[in-house]
Amino acid sequence: MQTRNLSYLLAPWVPHTPHRTLREMRLDSRSVLLDDLFVAVHGHSTNGHHFISQAINQGAAAVIAETTEKRNHGKINHIQGIPVIYIMNLSHCLSAIAGRFYQNPSQKLTLIGVTGTNGKTTTTHLLAQWVQLLGYASAVMGTLGNGLYGKLWLTKNTTDSAVDVQRTLRSLFNHGAQLVGMEVSSHALTQHRVAAIHFAAVAFTNLSHDHLDYHENMQNYEYSKWKLFSQHQVGQIIINSDNPVGNKWLKMLPSAVYVTTKSDKVKGFKKWLQAIKITYYDDGASVYFNSSWGNGCIDTNLIGSFNISNLCISLATLLSLEYPLDMLINTAGQLQPITGRMQTFSVLNKPKVVVDYAHTPDALEKVLIALRHYCKGALWCVFGCGGDRDKGKRPLMGKIAEQLADIIVITSDNPRNEDPYHITDEILSGLLTPGSAYVMIDRTQAISYAIRQAQLHDVVLIAGKGSENYQIFSTQNVSYSDLNLVLHLLRTLN
Ligand SMILES: Nc1ncnc2c1ncn2[C@@H]1O[C@H](COP(=O)(O)OP(=O)(O)OP(=O)(O)O)[C@@H](O)[C@H]1O
Ligand SMILES: [Mg+2]
Repeated sequence: MQTRNLSYLLAPWVPHTPHRTLREMRLDSRSVLLDDLFVAVHGHSTNGHHFISQAINQGAAAVIAETTEKRNHGKINHIQGIPVIYIMNLSHCLSAIAGRFYQNPSQKLTLIGVTGTNGKTTTTHLLAQWVQLLGYASAVMGTLGNGLYGKLWLTKNTTDSAVDVQRTLRSLFNHGAQLVGMEVSSHALTQHRVAAIHFAAVAFTNLSHDHLDYHENMQNYEYSKWKLFSQHQVGQIIINSDNPVGNKWLKMLPSAVYVTTKSDKVKGFKKWLQAIKITYYDDGASVYFNSSWGNGCIDTNLIGSFNISNLCISLATLLSLEYPLDMLINTAGQLQPITGRMQTFSVLNKPKVVVDYAHTPDALEKVLIALRHYCKGALWCVFGCGGDRDKGKRPLMGKIAEQLADIIVITSDNPRNEDPYHITDEILSGLLTPGSAYVMIDRTQAISYAIRQAQLHDVVLIAGKGSENYQIFSTQNVSYSDLNLVLHLLRTLN
């Protein structure tokens, strides 16, 4: 295959490189095998240049290495007879090089990129489920893994590296995927990981406080997301106007699809979708909507107004890609809630328990507001915050829990390298009356306490980890699952 010949592959960037037949492209030297192309970039925490010798010893046929100096661009060194080619700002063009290597799979399937602080996993999974119900093969890439829908393999990041994204898309295409829903994280946008990807549609859910350890302030964070809508190859653009940032962006995106669950009149947009009436039930909701594609009503078993927003974004996205309205309406009721997101356990004569992945102030607020609707007794909130990550959200989450829940149990999430008591103290600093909250560092103990003490009509929210099956202490992943623990407790509770 021509694209797997070094000389042809690099021609747009460096002319006259030697001919070498390449097997795979690898960013991690440990996974290099005979005849691979090793890519040495300056990463966030590691410098790939340190691993060039290891990659060559493992059989790399060639190496491309990042240089920040213009005079070194195109330089070719040989180490043990293996060409090492220097490319200026390699991380910026890596997505394009990998795209050429894997024959630009994003142009061959319908790829939908979803970005925003919360709702990416939910929306991408709804999109994939929905088209599957219409009879198409679909796939997802994101927090819960990559793969054909229902056959996911786990991944380390919400959005993979520039090389892995292209490789995965190629593999999904080869396995027959017709539509792929991809979560696009702000880290990935900042690090150019999807720079050369072609998106048939991109959707924005919302923006609120998160990841400020990385982006430093909300302006940088917003700008990283805005890049997807302003600097990438995209077809349809779908924006949630209920979010202030989305509303602001819509003024600069007149051809975007305007999505809202509010009653204000939609003006000046050719493509739009508006939920005009939402009726909530104990096990879901009915959503009446008007849109530029027609009007209708969908029944859903998703819980919470934020999920209605995710559902409307998914519906508008599929309509903008010309999936038929009547078929979408007919199948909506079969969409299943996403694992670990508002996953509800209702057992006869026991309190209702909800496991949710809320790990930002906005998500915790939305979830508690939604659950109040279903709660006739006391609303419990068991949560913690991750260590070594955005510390600013800790007091904010404490404050929200105090305002919206009746009983708070503060516990550990993934403490990583921090003292768990230090994290809980920072959460407590956001409470007006910190003495009213229970602090139980051991997550199993905290959840057991809440579920055992809760009364029949109480609702116990267990927030932060969703379907994760580990807790991170120091750098160790320890096997642990909120979902399994809740099931066990509900089975054994007298
Ligand atoms: N539209 C929304 N607005 C606010 N909160 C939401 C929304 N959708 C989901 N959430 C909350 O955020 C949590 C995470 O949802 P989801 O996994 O879909 O988000 P995500 O954007 O993929 O998050 P991550 O960045 O961790 O991958 C949910 O469990 C819920 O608490
Ligand atoms: Mg996600």
